[in-house]
Amino acid sequence: MAKRAAILGSGHYLPSRVVTNDDLAAMFETSDEWIVQRTGIKERRFIEHDGIGASDLALPAAKMALEQAGREVRDVDAIIFATLSPDVYFPGAGCYLGHKLGLGGVPALDVRNQCSGFLYSLSVADAWIRAGVYRNVLIAGAEVHSTGIELTDRGRDVAVLFGDGAGCVLVGEASGESEGIKVVELHADGVGAEELWVEAPASRRIPRLTEAMLDEGRHYPQMNGRQVFRWATEKMPEVAKSVLGKAGLGIEDVDLFIPHQANMRINQMVAARLGIAEDKVVHNIQRYGNTTAATIPIGISESWREGKLGAGSRVLFSAFGAGFTWAGAVVEF
Ligand code: UT7
Repeated sequence: MAKRAAILGSGHYLPSRVVTNDDLAAMFETSDEWIVQRTGIKERRFIEHDGIGASDLALPAAKMALEQAGREVRDVDAIIFATLSPDVYFPGAGCYLGHKLGLGGVPALDVRNQCSGFLYSLSVADAWIRAGVYRNVLIAGAEVHSTGIELTDRGRDVAVLFGDGAGCVLVGEASGESEGIKVVELHADGVGAEELWVEAPASRRIPRLTEAMLDEGRHYPQMNGRQVFRWATEKMPEVAKSVLGKAGLGIEDVDLFIPHQANMRINQMVAARLGIAEDKVVHNIQRYGNTTAATIPIGISESWREGKLGAGSRVLFSAFGAGFTWAGAVVEF
């Protein structure tokens, strides 16, 4: 019988340092009211001190995912690490995570697809397992944004949005009748490459980083918020409808919808366009802000532990972000 892939376990980890909107308002010109009204975010987490990278946040999440899946570290035969904030410029965060897990020799692939990174990784893991290349693929989505945002008046539009965190899943062979990854659909359009980006250091520039670039803050993320908002609210429902169609399902067949968490208003508009009941939509943006590649695996792990998701649950996913990239998936647990 043809092999099918399933999500066998999940885990998440958030650093303990809570940063509220009022904490940000003490650093630069913003307010709890503005942030809550525009984004729904109330607080986010930042790493506690210097020296904590994305792979460090992913490590406890990975162990939690393995435990839930009933697998040992040695069972992992491939790692996929989705992040836009790897520990260092190179090598990839996956190499660090593999080393920290003691998985010398196990392949580690870094995926650079920002907010869609987790679903891109899921597509790769699904294909590897169905093709019989690997049996147990650990996917990590983790970000340390707090060291890369500009916590000043100039950077406030972006700085209030992002937080640090990690989520992991273990993908392996499906055993149940209907369990498994049903559809994953991926998209990208570089027309939006510079609508949400970090320009510097840039390999195409000689030198890659100058004093002037630092002064202008070109090493911080820059975003055309309105343009990203418009694209997100169009593409997220479009790809969600497409994956449902390919899976032969209607919106009424979905038990839970876990959208990428960039903005509560985006989630609500996407849910309304899909016509899905509000109580089936997962939001954790209030507590964590946008953790980019980590939002969806954190959503899976929290929902599983809260009992919102369990054996037989049909879950719809949709994401949009820098690139532009966007993606959707349907998974039965
Ligand atoms: O993961 C995917 C990537 N990100 C997204 O999907 C984000 C998509 N975009 C958005 O969520 C929204 O565009 C934002 C929440 C980022 C911004 O909301 P907006 O309603 O588009 O606000 P705006 O950027 O048009 O700014 C409105 C006003 C401006 O003031 P004026 O020109 O009207 O006087 C800004 O200067 O709000 C001001 N502003 C702020 N005020 C207080 C911008 N940032 C802040 C801030 N605090 N942090």
